[in-house]
Amino acid sequence: MRDELKNLADLYYLKILSPDMKIDIHSLSRIFSDIGIYDENIKKLANLNAPVSREVLYYIFLKAYEVDKLHTFLNALSELVDVDLNALQKFLKPLGLAYVNGLFKKDLIKIGVLVSGRGTNLQAIIDAIENGDLRAEIAVVVSNKKNAYALQRAKDHGIKTVYLPPKKDEKREDYDKRLAEILHENGVALVVLAGFLRILSPWFVHEFEGRIINIHPSLLPSFAGLYGEKVHRAVIEYGCKVTGCTVHFVDEEVDHGPIIVQKCVEVSDDDTPESLAQKVLEKEHEALVEAIKLIAEDKIKVVGRRVIRK
Ligand code: GAR
Repeated sequence: MRDELKNLADLYYLKILSPDMKIDIHSLSRIFSDIGIYDENIKKLANLNAPVSREVLYYIFLKAYEVDKLHTFLNALSELVDVDLNALQKFLKPLGLAYVNGLFKKDLIKIGVLVSGRGTNLQAIIDAIENGDLRAEIAVVVSNKKNAYALQRAKDHGIKTVYLPPKKDEKREDYDKRLAEILHENGVALVVLAGFLRILSPWFVHEFEGRIINIHPSLLPSFAGLYGEKVHRAVIEYGCKVTGCTVHFVDEEVDHGPIIVQKCVEVSDDDTPESLAQKVLEKEHEALVEAIKLIAEDKIKVVGRRVIRK
């Protein structure tokens, strides 16, 4: 990925070098703020009136790519620089981009799935992609548990896997930085927590702001903070008549961010935590695919706590 990005940046760099080109660090910094990318280094370079070196341009491309806005950045840049589209085409696909009808667009949304266990939700995503219901690509599956069956499921479908165990006494944020590096290297635009048994640090949540979703097996905000069977036991003991699952954006609080999709199931008198878990799980698979689809097709936006149709 980095090579393609470097080559792409170089194509623009060669153009920028020509004397009639009016591109400087200020115009690039302006594009960044217009498209909502905030980067301290670029601001500093603009304040210093620094020249746009090859390295600076690559840094800018890398930043845009890492926040999943390379297509928006290229569209803004194309108003200032004309590059040979034929030369450019071959770098786009590996970066998850396409040039269609005069505009740069995201090709398939690249997903990174974080798992710790058996991975039936991961399987639901794989199946939806393979049968054409979901236009997306799983770029990498990362597990903090070596024996997570989810890893095997991914391998069986030729999907890249990474086992990332925490180091002894490692700070949460340090682990999350290693995790983010893997996700960035694989061009991940959307992080899906599918039974990932670690709480993410505020640093990580900020790094992928608005681009992390989680599936939880209850109707949030009820029964937040619990995991797996404990949720269903608590639902039965409380005497709830309905329960279900929630897919939500992740914020700094556990099981808390804006809700994307919820699905209900009835709790019957003879339900056990196991039987309820099974019923809810079937709904989880539908809900998770539905939520990813809404994001992949760019159909929703977050307004305050509400996720609404665009
Ligand atoms: C799912 O039921 C998911 O909702 C739950 O872990 C299970 C993973 O199953 N997540 C949580 O409880 C998070 N609080 P899977 O590995 O078969 O997808």
